[in-house]
Amino acid sequence: MTKFIHTIIVFVLATFSISIHANSEGEAMYGALGCASCHGENGRSNDEAIPSLAGKDVEWIIQQLEYFQSGQRQNSYMNAMAPMAEGFERSIAEYLSIQDPQR
Ligand code: HEC
Repeated sequence: MTKFIHTIIVFVLATFSISIHANSEGEAMYGALGCASCHGENGRSNDEAIPSLAGKDVEWIIQQLEYFQSGQRQNSYMNAMAPMAEGFERSIAEYLSIQDPQR
């Protein structure tokens, strides 16, 4: 019985830490790559020339990053920034999608 409870506890902790990790990677990369310096903390931009990303659809964000990477969408800042997000598009998009667009 003790072993059974132990197994359950380990399982719950493992599941919990995996889900925390999935969100924090996107959050960490959003900060580390400097996205936050333009798009604002938690994806809420303070500058009207820069779009807010909080609460946007995951697939849509990934698509925009791919358009900037391929040059299909042109913006001098984003054509430079998007390639740096390579490999992290989904985790960053997932992090942004669950941020509250309201302050
Ligand atoms: C130097 C400022 C700057 C930085 C740094 C920056 N962006 Fe942007 N981003 C912009 C601007 C300006 C636009 C609007 C481009 C346009 O009008 O087409 C934009 C657009 C976007 C869009 C499309 C939003 C929309 O409403 O169309 C996404 C998604 C995005 N950025 C994600 C990111 C991510 C992820 C990072 C970090 C890897 C990042 N940006 C870093 C300035 C920046």
